[in-house]
Amino acid sequence: MRLLVTGGAGFIGSAFVRRQLGRDPHRSVVVLDKLTYAGNLANLEPVRDAPGYRFVRGDITDETLVDDLAANTDAIVNFAAESHVDRSIESPDAFIETDVRGTYLLLEAARRHQHLRYLQVSTDEVYGHRETGSAQEDDPIAPRSPYAASKAAADLLVNAYHVTYGLHTSITRATNTFGPYQYPEKIIPLFVTNALDNDLLPLYGDGLQVRDWLHVDDHCAAIELVLERGSAGTTYNVGGGNEMTNVDLTRLILAELERPESLVRRVPDRPGHDRRYSVDATRIRGLGWSPGGSFRDELAETIRWYVAHPEWWRPIKSGAYLDFYRRQYAERLAAGTSLE
Ligand code: NAD
Ligand code: TYD
Repeated sequence: MRLLVTGGAGFIGSAFVRRQLGRDPHRSVVVLDKLTYAGNLANLEPVRDAPGYRFVRGDITDETLVDDLAANTDAIVNFAAESHVDRSIESPDAFIETDVRGTYLLLEAARRHQHLRYLQVSTDEVYGHRETGSAQEDDPIAPRSPYAASKAAADLLVNAYHVTYGLHTSITRATNTFGPYQYPEKIIPLFVTNALDNDLLPLYGDGLQVRDWLHVDDHCAAIELVLERGSAGTTYNVGGGNEMTNVDLTRLILAELERPESLVRRVPDRPGHDRRYSVDATRIRGLGWSPGGSFRDELAETIRWYVAHPEWWRPIKSGAYLDFYRRQYAERLAAGTSLE
C-alpha cells in the first residue's frame, strides 16, 4: 500500500512514518505537512534517506496539491490537525480551518479517487468527559473544547462520506499519547523539560483530572492494524489502560528526575477542563491489538529520551514558543500556590 501521511512531521505522524519506513525503507510513504509550529523535520531525520520516503511541504486545505498526491496513493492517513486544547481556547480559527475544512477537502480527494482507503486519526476527547465508565464507539459524541469539537465535526464528515459515497473510511479515537518527539506544550514533555531547567510546573486546578496514557508506539500499531484490517465505516477506540490523575503523573515525573515537589505550582484551571477521559477498547482488541509494556517503564524511558536529546527540544523552547508560554502561563504562575 502506497501511503499519503498528512501531518507526518508532527509527534504521532512522524512516529508512524518512522515505523513504516523502519520496517521497509522502500515502502512508498509521502508526507504532506504544513510545518506549523508543531511540525518539525527533525522528527523525520531518521528516515530522510529511505528510498520510499518523500516530503512535501503543503497544506491539507490546498485542494490541487491534495488531489495530485491522492491520485498516486492507495491510502490517506490523516494526522494533520491543530492539536492543543489550550491553543484552541485562545484562538479556535485554525482548528476549524485545518481539523474541519482540511478533513473535508481530504475526503473530497478520496471521493474523486474511489480506490483510496481513508483513515482519520481522531481522539477520545470527542466523547467529552466521563465521570464514570468508559465510552464505546457508538456512544453519542459530546465534545466540550473547540479542539474536541473540531475533531468531532471531522469524524461526522468521515462517517457521512462512508454512508453517502461508499468511501472506505475508518476512524481511530485514541487516548492521551506520550513518547519521544512530543512538542513541549503537552503536559509530559512540558513538565519534563521545565523540571530539567528547574522551572515551575503549572498544574491546572486541583490536579485531580484523569487521563489514560498510551505510548506512541502502541498508538501507531493500532493505526497500522486498522489500516490493514479495519472494517469500512467503523470507529475504533484505542486506550492505554493507564488512567492516572495529573498530580500523580507530576509526582512520577519529579521522582524520575530527582527534582523537588516545590517546583509544582497549582495554577488557575483551564476553562471547561474535562475531568476524565476513558474509552472501552474491546473492539480493537478483537482485531488483535493490545498495548505493550508497563506505563512506569515507558514513562521513565520517555523521560530519559528528553534528558538525552536537549538538541531536539531546546531550539523549540525559544521565540514564538516563549510568547505562547508567557500568554498561557505568566499570570497563572503569578497566582499559583504550592502543592502542599
Ligand atoms: P502535532 O500537533 O504534534 O502534529 C500535527 C502535525 O500536523 C504537525 O506536523 C503540523 O505541522 C501538521 N499540520 C497542522 N496543520 C496542517 C495543515 N493545515 N496541513 C498540513 N499539515 C498540518 O499533533 P499529534 O499530537 O502528533 O497528533 C496527531 C493527530 O493525532 C491529531 O489529529 C490529533 O488530534 C490526534 N490525537 C492526538 C493525541 C495526543 O495525545 N497527542 C491523542 C489522540 C489523537
Ligand atoms: P494536555 O497534555 O494538554 O492534553 P489534553 O488536554 O489533550 O488531555 O493536558 C493533559 C492534562 O494535563 C489535562 O488534564 C490538562 C493538564 N495540564 C496541566 O495541568 N498543566 C499544563 O500546563 C498542561 C499543558 C496540561
